[in-house]
Amino acid sequence: MSKIFSISKPLDMHLHLRDNDMLNLVGPLTSNTFCGAIIMPNLVPPVTTKEAVVAYKNRIKQACGNDTFEPYMTLFFQNYSREFLEDVKDEITAIKLYPAGITTNSETGVSSMDIETLRPTLQAMSDLGIILCIHGETNGFVMDREAEFMPIYESIASNFPNLKIIMEHITTKSAVEMLDKYPNLYATITLHHLLITLDDVVGGMLKPHLFCKPIAKRYEDRAALLNVALGANPKVCFGSDSAPHPKNKKESCGCAAGVFTAPIALQVLTELFEKHNCLDNLQKFVSDNAINIYGINPPSKTITLEKADFKVPSSYKNDTETVVPMYANEVIKWSLVN
Ligand code: DOR
Ligand code: ZN
Repeated sequence: MSKIFSISKPLDMHLHLRDNDMLNLVGPLTSNTFCGAIIMPNLVPPVTTKEAVVAYKNRIKQACGNDTFEPYMTLFFQNYSREFLEDVKDEITAIKLYPAGITTNSETGVSSMDIETLRPTLQAMSDLGIILCIHGETNGFVMDREAEFMPIYESIASNFPNLKIIMEHITTKSAVEMLDKYPNLYATITLHHLLITLDDVVGGMLKPHLFCKPIAKRYEDRAALLNVALGANPKVCFGSDSAPHPKNKKESCGCAAGVFTAPIALQVLTELFEKHNCLDNLQKFVSDNAINIYGINPPSKTITLEKADFKVPSSYKNDTETVVPMYANEVIKWSLVN
């Protein structure tokens, strides 16, 4: 008998589902294992109105068919009025702030992180209990971008002590250290940043499917991330940042940033936590911590995995889209039990 492991209400607190044919292809690859996910708003154009949030949520539900799956919606950060936020509040879980131009489809993001410019919107969010998710990178040297952003996290966290702030997809020891400094700072951690360093991306043959933003960092950074994830530190939770791009946009001169992990995320997390003798903590990292941090009540769903080899497909495709998953053509050690 192979080893069996079950997870209740798995949640992915940072997910890109895109739209149209890509959404129809990748949506079910998350909704068949996760019971809910925070949906990123960096569509073209970005999600900035109540109508766009509601319509996008409906398209996601349509794409995910009969799966038990709750899309937790976000707006793309702009300077929004208090009246607008009061009106949209019940349709969203968070607002995602991107510095302008920092990553895919973020051109209309925030051009100045000056706290006084952001204050009216952040104060209204704080008063209304809307969570702020941040892509925390400057446009400095690529390996230093996240560390250089730390003073901005500090400034927002101290100016708005009642605002819950999520440092998205943290990749550095400096971000991990920040968690202990401010009670209102939390973080999501991806699967790929727990697994790889910059060496895996560019240290041998260039691996476009591992290229993402923030870029994977040093060994000591990965060790710091593993420490809080495997230990299920209550201030961190899983957010895959699974970010599908068409195969030809990844395997191209000018590779798009993003690692597509949705179809293998839960299985490989299980493998990783088992390898480190921390399987008992996976439930917290992939569900309980998120429920506490975001104050959500996700639908019931239990996913059972067995320790059995699974060969990851070379790609996932429909009539118009092809996307390559992390570990394409490789064998992973855990499989989903249907
Ligand atoms: O690698 C990334 N891909 N990082 C991001 O911040 C955005 C994402 C995307 O949307 O493709
Ligand atoms: Zn993202």
